[in-house]
Formats: sequence, structure tokens, C-alpha cells
Amino acid sequence: MSDAAFPARILYPQARITAIGSYVPERRLTNADLERIVDTSDRWIIERTGIKERRICAPDEFTSDLCIAAVQNMKDRFQPDLSDVDLVLVSTSTPDFAFPSTAALVQAHFAIPHAGTMDLSAACAGFVNGLLTAFGMVTAGFHRKIIVIGADALSKMTDYTDRSTCILFGDGAGAVLVERTDEPRPQPVVCVQGSDGDGGIHLYQTHTTGSMRGRPVTANGKIIQNGREVYKFAVQTIPRGVAAMLSAAGLAPADVDWFLPHSANLRIIESVCEKTGIPLNRTLHTIERYGNTSAATIPLAMDEGVRQGRFKAGDAMLLFGFGGGLVHTGMLMRWAGLGQ
Ligand code: ACO
Repeated sequence: MSDAAFPARILYPQARITAIGSYVPERRLTNADLERIVDTSDRWIIERTGIKERRICAPDEFTSDLCIAAVQNMKDRFQPDLSDVDLVLVSTSTPDFAFPSTAALVQAHFAIPHAGTMDLSAACAGFVNGLLTAFGMVTAGFHRKIIVIGADALSKMTDYTDRSTCILFGDGAGAVLVERTDEPRPQPVVCVQGSDGDGGIHLYQTHTTGSMRGRPVTANGKIIQNGREVYKFAVQTIPRGVAAMLSAAGLAPADVDWFLPHSANLRIIESVCEKTGIPLNRTLHTIERYGNTSAATIPLAMDEGVRQGRFKAGDAMLLFGFGGGLVHTGMLMRWAGLGQ
């Protein structure tokens, strides 16, 4: 039976991912390091979140640097021609500047001559939204080649005196190239996309004062989170979104070859697997080593799967992002294999 609160949409894409790259900063922040900063313990952090360490930007390293390093990594491994890229799309909550966009900084670095550039703000659901946007624009015929990047440097806005948030976040970036295909019978992409704007108050960041539902909200530029509410949102929302996509695709949980959920907390992933019936061993995430890297968690996990040679053409791959907004976006697609 379909779930009216989670309408699934279907696209027959004339697009596929042809290259991927990723990057995390050198510096490690371990649970032992955090024990010296706030009143916490390695045991508490591992039991409650699954996180062992995170990567943190150097003081002079910013989101645009992470993006550029991820695209460079993609270039080194796949040698794509970037000279005819039509659009650079960066999903991030931590742009270097309000403007210019982070995407424009990437375009300048690689001297891409005719690309449009824009940043997309959808918190930890940013990469899946970026990928869906790219698939849609390429399929519609607007563009033939789009770089999609999920990148965040949450350490820049993490309050390292707040033990309930500082243990969670890390920095990183993942980039993919989406290109036009002329496949005569494209495999469907199923997606769900939704928001609970009333829940915005449970997870936010502002440098000044913003307004939520007519109420002024002020903060010091650091992340403010009601972890329990976000947790509840995640474990209630993701399983329903997953069920709606599987039903629209006519697939069973066991048909999912790879599940790439946003990695915010290992307990959330375990709970979602238990509720959806997707086996935990089909799940790819980077929570232990990188923590919650926001828009980067899904492309980092995807690239790890590529590097480990896990994916084969035709595999059913389910991506699911969720986060501040509160927002969720899921995407069920077939892996088409990389390269031209
Ligand atoms: N070390 C030790 N104790 C701690 C710590 C810590 N680091 N943090 C909190 N505690 C304490 C609390 O003070 C509380 O103590 P009390 O009972 O004496 O009051 C106790 O532990 C339990 O606190 P909870 O907040 O209930 O702990 P919970 O089990 O919910 O875990 C956590 C907290 C890890 C934040 C969890 O709620 C969570 O992961 N929530 C979801 C976060 C998430 O998914 N965020 C997505 C962000 S996506 C984006 O858009 C950026």
C-alpha cells in the first residue's frame, strides 16, 4: 500500500555517473582528543554514535579547498575532460562565502570555461538533492555534463564546548561527474523528497539572527542541535521513505544491493536496517572514521565502494539523506558503471 506522506516520483534518466573522487583533511580528531576537550569518553561516543575519529580542516583549509581536492582526485583517477562541463553544483552548508558560491571557486580553480555555477543548501541531504537535480537537468536536455559535489567543513561551526554536538562532526568532500547517456531503455530512478520545516528549530546555525515561523532565533554561529528530536525524526522518516521507494520500484528490501544512508550515527543506521529489512552488511558508510561530514557522507561512502571494487553494473543502489530543515531525500537507482 502506498504511503500518502511519502509520494515516490519516477524518472527515466538519460544520465549516469561516469567518474568519482573524494577527499578528507589530514588532521585526525580522535575520541581520546575529545576526552581532553570536553567531559566525555571514548566508550560513550562509540556506544551512542559508532564514531571513533573524524578529519578536521587545517585553519587555512575551507570547503572550497575540500571540493577542489575531491575534483582533483576524480581527475587523477578517471581523466575526465572537464573543459565542456556545463554546470558545477556544490551542495554545502558551509560555503566559504555567502557569495561568491563555492561552485564558482571550483570553476575558477579548474578554469572551466563555460560552466554555470551554484551552491545548494539542504544540509546532510545536500548531495542526494544535487545528484537528483543533475539527473533531472541532464535528462531534460539542458546540460550534458555536470559536476556534483557534496562537501562540508562543519568543524568551522562546531561548538567545541558542547559535548553533545562536538563529538559528531567532521569535514570532507565527494565529487561525481554526471553525463548524458542515450540509453534507449533507461532504468528508472525513484525518489522521495520531503520536509518538516517546523522541525527546523531542532538543528540550525546562524551567525546573526534568523526568523523561524515569525520567531527571531539568535546564535553565535555554532551548530545548535536537539539530538533526541533529530534522532527520532531520522528513525521514523527514513524507513517510511525507503518503503515508499521500494514499493514504487517493485523491489523487496533484499533486492537492494547497496544502501548508502547519510551517516550521522551508527545507531540510526542499525535501527533503519532493522525497520526496513535491508541487511546491515549491504550498507556502506564512513561513520567510524569520518563522523558526520554532512553533505559529504554519501559520496565518501560511494567512493569507498568504488575503490573497493564493490559495485557492478545493474546493482540497485539506495541513497538516503536527511538533516537540518528538517529534510529528507532518497534516491533509488541502478549503478551504471564508471567511465565513458
Ligand atoms: N559524552 C558523555 N555524555 C554525554 C555526551 C557526551 N559526548 N553528550 C551528551 N551526554 C549526556 C547528556 O548530557 C545526557 O545526560 P543526562 O541524562 O544526565 O542529561 C545523556 O548523555 C543522554 O543524552 P542524550 O542527548 O539523550 O543522548 P543520546 O543517546 O540521544 O545521544 C546524540 C546524543 C548522539 C547526539 C543522538 O541524539 C544523536 O545522534 N542524534 C541525532 C543526531 C543527528 O542525526 N544529526 C544529524 C545532523 S544532520 C545535519 O544536517 C548536520
